[in-house]
Amino acid sequence: MESSSVLELRNVTKKLGNKNVVDDLSFSIQSGEVFGLLGPNGAGKTTTIRMIAGLISKSNGKVFINGVDADENFKQVMSEMGAIVENPEMYKFLTGYQNLLHFARMAQVSITKERIKEVIKLVDLEKNIHRKVKTYSLGMRQRLGVAQAILHKPSLLIFDEPTNGLDPQGIYEFRTYLKKLTEQGVAVMVSSHLLAEMQQMCDRVAIIQEGKLIDISSVHELREDHGADTLVQFEVDQPELAKEKLTDFEFEIVDGYLQCPAKRSDIPSINKKLVQANIQVFGISSKNPSLEEKFLAITKGGEEV
Ligand SMILES: Nc1ncnc2c1ncn2[C@@H]1O[C@H](COP(=O)(O)OP(=O)(O)OP(=O)(O)O)[C@@H](O)[C@H]1O
Ligand SMILES: [Mg+2]
Repeated sequence: MESSSVLELRNVTKKLGNKNVVDDLSFSIQSGEVFGLLGPNGAGKTTTIRMIAGLISKSNGKVFINGVDADENFKQVMSEMGAIVENPEMYKFLTGYQNLLHFARMAQVSITKERIKEVIKLVDLEKNIHRKVKTYSLGMRQRLGVAQAILHKPSLLIFDEPTNGLDPQGIYEFRTYLKKLTEQGVAVMVSSHLLAEMQQMCDRVAIIQEGKLIDISSVHELREDHGADTLVQFEVDQPELAKEKLTDFEFEIVDGYLQCPAKRSDIPSINKKLVQANIQVFGISSKNPSLEEKFLAITKGGEEV
């Protein structure tokens, strides 16, 4: 059967010893989407990604890339995919640019100097591209890895725990260039064990535990107004005062943030009332309580995983 998804997994299973470390996983990812694989340590994220990237075999199931069965046309599907699974191999004594040139020459398709320039710009490495990789920070190395993975214009990009070790600025920048890529129609799959990070980065998140798919949720349910209440958080200078003054709302103070259940369409008027009460608003964000509950339930109350 043909599939219109960029990536589709059908009943993918990996058996190691007598245990299914990935157990009957099925989901699909569309063009322009950032899809997250969220699960605690040992859930099977890396194993799943390694199977998709063709680094290890599957025990059962099928992987389709743009409708093509990966087992039947491995070379073609690999040319449509870019993956960063472990720390990408770089030649430390060469410059970033020399590394990219090297990978461009090894690629199956021809990659122009123009294209190399384009990816360097996209990952914002223009200033440092002629420095030796051994002098790069972790963040710069990670960008160079991304540049390498997208050189051949894949329609699917896969990153295993891409933000590991990055500082908040690095994580922010990573999200920024993910956005640029999805705007060009690329489908992205990322894994993480951190819920908050996935909520910021992804359109949809699949939760896996012990190799099994527990749930797939859309993260930005608030984007489309379902008319349902979502938890909205306001970062303000005087949360206690806000709670005291604006009794129309069911404000609660959680970790210093003002929080209340609201519809998307209510946010501007709440904001206006806060401002009129002389309360300074520094930020507004929404939470997806259902996703959080599901994830906390499987990680046993939110202990660090
Ligand atoms: N070669 C192997 N032989 C036996 N078991 C393995 C092997 N590789 C992985 N496993 C087991 O498979 C399970 C899934 O591992 P995997 O690395 O996919 O998890 P993960 O979700 O990526 O975890 P982490 O968040 O720690 O990266 C674990 O229980 C792990 O111990
Ligand atoms: Mg892993």
